[in-house]
Formats: sequence, C-alpha cells, structure tokens
Amino acid sequence: MALLPIVLVPDPVLRHVAKPVETITPELRQLMDDMLETMYDAPGVGLAANQIGRLERVIVLDCADKQDGEEPQPYQMVNPEITWKSEQTSKYSEGCLSIPEGTGDVQRPTAVRVRYLDREGQSHELEADGLLATCLQHEIDHLNGVLFTDHLSKLKRDMVLKKAKKVARERQSQS
Ligand code: NI
Repeated sequence: MALLPIVLVPDPVLRHVAKPVETITPELRQLMDDMLETMYDAPGVGLAANQIGRLERVIVLDCADKQDGEEPQPYQMVNPEITWKSEQTSKYSEGCLSIPEGTGDVQRPTAVRVRYLDREGQSHELEADGLLATCLQHEIDHLNGVLFTDHLSKLKRDMVLKKAKKVARERQSQS
C-alpha cells in the first residue's frame, strides 16, 4: 500500500474526462487500494482517479459516519455510471481534497442509482441517498472533469478557487 500525491487546482488533469477501464488488472486493483488508503489518510470521504493524476474511470469512497459509530463502508468502483436521479434535490456543504480549504453548498438530486463494476469485475447497481448520494455524484463529476465549484455561483466559485489556489501554491512551495 502507498499514499499517492493528491493533485490540486488548477492542475489541468482535474478538467480532463477519464477513460473507461477495459480490463481490471492487478495493477488497477493495487491503485484502488492505494486510492482508498490515500483518501482515509487525507482524510476524505471520496477520491476519483483524476485526483491522483490518472485518467481512468475509477472512484473510491466511504461515507460512513464514523463519529456516529458506523462501521467503515468502503467502495471501490470501476466505470461508475448514474442510471437514475431523483427529482427531489438536497443541498450539502461540499469540499474536495483537490480544492484545499474550500467549501460550498451544492444542490443535487437527493437519491441516485449507480451502476459500476467492483474490483473483481462484477456488475452492481447501488441505490443511495443522503451523503452517499452526494458523494457519488461529486466523484463521478470528477471523472467528467467537473468540480463541485462548477455548481456554485460565479461569485462564490471565484472566491473558493482563488483561496484554494493560494493554499495550493503555499503547500507546493513548502514541499
Ligand atoms: Ni472532490
């Protein structure tokens, strides 16, 4: 297992569309394990391959509420695809490991169904609501080159990104 460096804004890889995975290799399984470890270490609740500089359609997430005593609930998803969204929407305050110190309220469908392949290549369909639904949409957005800030007003987006880029520069000059 290894911790992977997380790509920060304004790295262009965050704006690229990731390609579907054709074969799940041992290397890809290792990558997903490393992504999960990197996400837990950050700490965060989701991570998409773009965020570690890989343009493959892979996401990992764990939205269990550990403070509320829930058991970890890790997911590793290959080629995830939203097959249904609820009409009803809800608003969550979102953040992103690639946008340091930035948060903003994003309105998204309250519930979604997602089809994906697991690490063994088995197909699943997951129906989710609450934080998990938000997290799935946020991570699948990443695979399409979309950031949560794209869902904010221009004023709020500019503010969040300006600050995040400043923090990113400071971190890079320290390392
Ligand atoms: Ni993110």
